[in-house]
Amino acid sequence: MAKIRIEGGHKLSGTIPISGAKNSVVALIPAAILCDEIVTISNVPEITDVDDLENILVHLNAKITRTVGKVEINAGDIINKEITETLSKKLRASYYFMGALLGKFNKVEMYFPGGCSIGARPINLHLKGFELLGATITEEGNHFTIEAEKLKGAHIYLDFPSVGATINIMLAAVKAKGKTVIDNAAAEPEIANIATFLNNMGAKIKGAGTSTITITGVKYLHSCFHEVIPDRIEAGTYLILASLIGDNLKIDNMIPHHLEALIAKLKEAGVEMEIGLDNITVSSPGNYKATDIKTLVYPGFATDLQQVMSVFLTQCKGRSSIEETIYENRFNSLYELEKMGAIVKVRNDNHKATIKGKTPLVGADVNATDLRGGAALLVAGLIASGVTNIDNISYILRGYDHIIEKLTNVGAKIEII
Ligand code: UD1
Repeated sequence: MAKIRIEGGHKLSGTIPISGAKNSVVALIPAAILCDEIVTISNVPEITDVDDLENILVHLNAKITRTVGKVEINAGDIINKEITETLSKKLRASYYFMGALLGKFNKVEMYFPGGCSIGARPINLHLKGFELLGATITEEGNHFTIEAEKLKGAHIYLDFPSVGATINIMLAAVKAKGKTVIDNAAAEPEIANIATFLNNMGAKIKGAGTSTITITGVKYLHSCFHEVIPDRIEAGTYLILASLIGDNLKIDNMIPHHLEALIAKLKEAGVEMEIGLDNITVSSPGNYKATDIKTLVYPGFATDLQQVMSVFLTQCKGRSSIEETIYENRFNSLYELEKMGAIVKVRNDNHKATIKGKTPLVGADVNATDLRGGAALLVAGLIASGVTNIDNISYILRGYDHIIEKLTNVGAKIEII
């Protein structure tokens, strides 16, 4: 099994370019099948989640051509057959084929999606949305058959502003008859990116990026060209890293506005940064003070940055607290950080943890517990003294494009062994 080996403690300087957003592209690719013509998506990151979606497209007989940073999809000859359990379970975002195939064929058969084990992650809100649009759902164990004679616009209130449910309902509603309103919709930037893509194909979606989205059904979607927005979680990961060990380290081709909560918390702790239009430079790490983090839906502090931020908190003087409100099980990486010298305490209900700093981190053999937990350990390894070996690295490669090359280019001693 491959591992990532890091020799820590080397200052990083230069520029890290940010790739296209994972959470955007993993919805754009399934969304492309709603169209029968060629669709081109650019700024596509090279991550294994995209490979897994490609395998689903091939299974469905869609044509997909990948060149560096670009995919072309032609779903004109797609066959609506069951997506196997193996393919469904490969990643969380396979669930977007539920909305896309239902929207295209009025029927989909697939299994419960995969993804990191950071909580129960039910899909009840997705299913409730499909039902309100007129679909019937048959659930047998992990297997779902969702079908409708005809999809009809509806008023859908989400009990929680779920990212996946919001996008999935948009996909199913784009060609439904009449008007659909999603209330208490998620407002993450990726949702606006998917809506822009669908609108470029001729869909009529308004309000994406706010808590009320209106979709007026159209009969036909046409060919289009679309660019994936920069990955705010990748940018945030490197911004935190720059705050810890950067020496004039520039995070480039990003949208600072998408990271306002993180930037505010880093500044509160004492990080000084220069914010440009599409980049942020951190000059040199200072003496940081403890701060409290509470994860929330966008524009609140992103749960996907919570674990990487926990590494930053180990380097802040005093007691910091983290409150995780989105997932029930997102502190496993803290136990791995403990092996490197972090002083952490996780409350019994698994929703709150405290970190006491500042503690020097020391290289150790650790396990990536999930995608962002793996990224946290990688950041920890880069700031630690000595050598860190990270196991289970497939988690990390699912979501970080060219991570070894990007870090090597700015002076990190990191390799896959
Ligand atoms: C997406 C992102 C993930 C991010 C998360 C929250 C993708 C592929 N993944 O995941 O990186 O961490 O948003 O920003 O884009 N919930 C329900 N019922 C549902 C749906 C969700 O109870 O039907 C709960 C979940 O269990 C979780 C919370 O709502 O506790 C947030 O989930 P959601 O926003 O749907 O996240 P995902 O789409 O899974």
